Amino acid sequence: MKIDVATLFPEAFDGLKVGVVGKALAKGLFELRLHNIRDYSADKHRRCDDYPFGGGAGMLMTPQPLHDCINAIDPAHRARRIYLSPKGKTLTQRRVVELAGEEALLFVCGAYEGVDQRVIDLDIDEEMSIGDYVLTGGEIAAMAAINAISRYIPGVLGSEQSTDEESFSDGLLEYPQYTRPAVFNGVAVPDVLLSGNHAEVDKWRRARQLELTRKLRPDLLKGEDK
Ligand SMILES: C[S@@+](CC[C@H](N)C(=O)[O-])C[C@H]1O[C@@H](n2cnc3c(N)ncnc32)[C@H](O)[C@@H]1O
Repeated sequence: MKIDVATLFPEAFDGLKVGVVGKALAKGLFELRLHNIRDYSADKHRRCDDYPFGGGAGMLMTPQPLHDCINAIDPAHRARRIYLSPKGKTLTQRRVVELAGEEALLFVCGAYEGVDQRVIDLDIDEEMSIGDYVLTGGEIAAMAAINAISRYIPGVLGSEQSTDEESFSDGLLEYPQYTRPAVFNGVAVPDVLLSGNHAEVDKWRRARQLELTRKLRPDLLKGEDK
């Protein structure tokens, strides 16, 4: 998979060079190319912002550098072009899995008070939010999406099971997990996990998944207990 990012702050993506994602990038399991929107500004001072027509607080990203940057990166419009925006549809695990199946993704990071609407209308396929709150720029949102998507690229995670049995994979939260020691600070691991009885362990885990989801995220059950 190829992932391109249009941003005013390419250096912010250094955060993706560590851990599991960093190793995957180093191994070439997917390609990440960062593009500085400012490099496409036709303004002699490389400006990329201006005052909003009609007044209002703050500045907006002007359309020319963004439009030229997006179309230089993806001239034939082969990539799924995503503008990170609090107005977008909130990213879910289901959408993460769908996006992991795309051949090419282009993330566009806004800044200031956002971007000129004409860029969204002319150049963007979808607006994506990472939650109902406002960040100063799209970089952290793009990194969150890229991190989540990369986990579904073959070879990125050590064990195929890692994405199968975790929170949201079957619409439920993950069951509680324990490791050694069997007793910590006087608190023992549930007996069933030490029993070696895999059927009982599975039953226990399923019951805990339902219990936890009901308690912490009843919205995920939507009335249909599994
Ligand atoms: C300060 S925000 C602009 C907010 C905009 N004025 C509004 O009220 O919708 C600047 C940039 O941060 C990014 N951003 C902020 N919050 C976000 C979120 N929840 N999800 C994704 N991107 C976000 C977007 O790229 C946006 O253009």
